[in-house]
Amino acid sequence: MSHTPTILVFDSGLGGLTVFREIVKLRPGARYVYVADDAYFPYGQHTEDEIVARVVPLVGDLIAEHRPNLVVIACNTASTLVMTHLREAYSVPFVGTVPAIKPACASSKTKRVSVLGTKGTVKREYTKKLIADFAHDCDVTLVGAENLASLAEATLRGERVSNDAIAAEIAPCFLNGDARTDTVVLACTHYPLLLDQMVALAPWKVDWIDPAPAIARRVSDLLGAANGLGEPIGGRIIFTSEQAPSPVLAKALMPFFGASFVS
Ligand code: DGL
Repeated sequence: MSHTPTILVFDSGLGGLTVFREIVKLRPGARYVYVADDAYFPYGQHTEDEIVARVVPLVGDLIAEHRPNLVVIACNTASTLVMTHLREAYSVPFVGTVPAIKPACASSKTKRVSVLGTKGTVKREYTKKLIADFAHDCDVTLVGAENLASLAEATLRGERVSNDAIAAEIAPCFLNGDARTDTVVLACTHYPLLLDQMVALAPWKVDWIDPAPAIARRVSDLLGAANGLGEPIGGRIIFTSEQAPSPVLAKALMPFFGASFVS
């Protein structure tokens, strides 16, 4: 007998929608609760202690309220810190989002890879360990973007974002020495929202690695064969600021949630 699971997808803001949409493709018949912790956005500007102190109890409250069968932390800045704490504190299965350094290094031909993330993510011990474990033959450049997640949010909100602002954030990814960078890891779930602009502004063609499809496959495997298939039953989005989205943002959210959502 098939079962309708509830999947809670959590991010500091709207970047987690890039993961959410991939999960929905595989499990359209699940019930979704998307939580944007916009009251605390951007996580990239907070200290490690602040993020742990914010996210662990907040996710606990959300689990108590929505009783999800699975929680996806669709945020690298949080996942690189809180997964162990969450698994220790709560019994629900968790899936995190961490920089896709292993597949990027495996597929790079020039063996020069850049990891584009928030300032927080590129500083993490977790990220450094991924490089130590999986980048043996690869030269990895860590690029901590100051404003790229905010620029992605601004774009969704219909604000004008200049090409120069995006180009300046991605410029340090492109190294052209003995070997050229040929692969950029999108180590923040917000960045795929700007993929078209980044492709157009890149000084040369690279592979942009977005781990969202792989995360969706992991979620689907954990749900098991019969669960969350079938007709879409939709989802809701919750903003921790409790501010209603502007009409422009509501329209931008439509492709993700359909016509009805609550804030
Ligand atoms: N979407 C988040 C991530 O994947 C970060 C954005 C933020 O700084 O809050 O890292």
